[in-house]
Amino acid sequence: MKNSIRFKLIIWITGTLFIILSSSSFYLFQEKREYEFNHYQENKVSLKKQLKISLLNGFWQLDKKYISSVIESNMQNEYILAIKAKDQGNLYVGILKTKESALVTLDDQITPTHSDKLEIRFSHEKLEIGFVEIFFSRQPFLKRIDDFLLRLLFIEFIAIFSIGSMLYFAMNRYIFSPIQTLEFALEKANELDIESNDNTQDYGLPKLDFFEWSKLVNGVNTIINKISQELHNRQFAEIDALLEKNNAEIAYNELIKTKNSLVQTEKMAALGRLVAGIAHEVNTPLGITLTVASQLKGESIKLVSMVEEGSLKKSQLVEFMDLACESSRLIFANSKRASELIQSFKQIAVDQSSQIKREFYLCEYLKEVLHSLNPKIKATAIDIEFHCSEIIQMNSYPGALSQVITNLVLNAIIHAYDEEQKGIINISAFTLDRNVEIKVTDNGYGIGQEVLGKIFDPFFTTKQGKGGTGLGLNIAFNIVTQTLKGTLSVASEVNKGSCFTINIPIEQDANTDSIDFK
Ligand SMILES: Nc1ncnc2c1ncn2[C@@H]1O[C@H](COP(=O)(O)OP(=O)(O)O)[C@@H](O)[C@H]1O
Ligand SMILES: [Mg+2]
Repeated sequence: MKNSIRFKLIIWITGTLFIILSSSSFYLFQEKREYEFNHYQENKVSLKKQLKISLLNGFWQLDKKYISSVIESNMQNEYILAIKAKDQGNLYVGILKTKESALVTLDDQITPTHSDKLEIRFSHEKLEIGFVEIFFSRQPFLKRIDDFLLRLLFIEFIAIFSIGSMLYFAMNRYIFSPIQTLEFALEKANELDIESNDNTQDYGLPKLDFFEWSKLVNGVNTIINKISQELHNRQFAEIDALLEKNNAEIAYNELIKTKNSLVQTEKMAALGRLVAGIAHEVNTPLGITLTVASQLKGESIKLVSMVEEGSLKKSQLVEFMDLACESSRLIFANSKRASELIQSFKQIAVDQSSQIKREFYLCEYLKEVLHSLNPKIKATAIDIEFHCSEIIQMNSYPGALSQVITNLVLNAIIHAYDEEQKGIINISAFTLDRNVEIKVTDNGYGIGQEVLGKIFDPFFTTKQGKGGTGLGLNIAFNIVTQTLKGTLSVASEVNKGSCFTINIPIEQDANTDSIDFK
């Protein structure tokens, strides 16, 4: 209540009115008092003059009747309370005005209660012949002043009351009731749920009659509309963002699926390459075996027919025996070679597909892996150098390692050199404390700095559309860091070549027996 504008304005307005009206009333009151007082003084002065003239004759002639009549006539004066007149002898006239304005005789001994007294002495040649005392009362003018004050106060009260209530009603009509209307409308708008999609909701404020208010209402309406529009926009944006997020999630899941399937494809491709390698490598000894066996078969048939005809000579038999010996030696050697090859490839293929941890000799194993890559290497002008002097026995995941080495060597063949370009790919392995460090180095094009930071990212390839998937190094990185518990790093200089370094523990922890890497 004390904080309401209405209360404050009432206090201010009535206070101001009170101050203005009181000061003007005070001024008027002072004027009136001065006037009445002057009037009273003037009255006294003129009475004195008049009595001095009119009573002198009475005293001179000692005419009591005349004196009485003069006094009585002057008793009409409202300020006079009583008059006493006497001479040196027995002449005495005393008249008193009662409260009811009746005139009664006043004893010489009695002095009435008065507010003012005037004495007039009549003398002749220094001899006093008469003495008059006039008793005045200020009551009449004091009463008039009091009445005036009361009237002033009444007018002031009426003025304050009427101006105050007029202002109050005017303010109510033009200020407070519009404010209240706005207040209710705002409260109503506040209760509405702006975020709901209910279009029938009306947030707008009512139209008000007066110019200033309608401007204000229009302004507030515009702001409310803007805010609700903004909120709706935001809602839409949120819905859009949610949809986008869902889409992104779906796309991400798709991507993961695609990546997984590509990883699988890449693994299958690695196996495919291995199988091709086996086929190619085994082809030679098997071919030789086949040729020698068919030649031996032909010679044997010839020998049988010669025996049947009885035309076999000793020299022919010796020749056949030599051929049979040489053929069986060749068949044995080549079959052995084929069997060995199949044995080693079988091990790599099993390792690659099963990811089994086992003990193996690193250098032997790397040699076999490089062997499996022979068909690819032979189709290029690139030489492979392999340095691994120590006997390093490891307990780790050979299949995983073979896949990493395969990827790195194939990358060097594909990315470091042009077709037919000569080059050297060097693979070296040596121990470092309880780790081995295997380096795959080429002297080809190298990798630019702007690309170097991205080559391990999935799907990063500079051979987009030309058979590159961008997964080879990512898979290699994951295998080295997760399965082999080591590190894979790269150093490269443009036009000088690249060096990939694998650093892995010789012994894998006993509790990680078999990992099916993704
Ligand atoms: N030895 C290398 N010499 C030059 N660039 C290489 C070499 N190895 C990898 N890169 C670069 O790294 C990229 C990523 O390799 P990778 O992940 O195996 O994908 P992809 O072989 O499918 O392109 C290649 O596209 C290539 O630009
Ligand atoms: Mg690759």
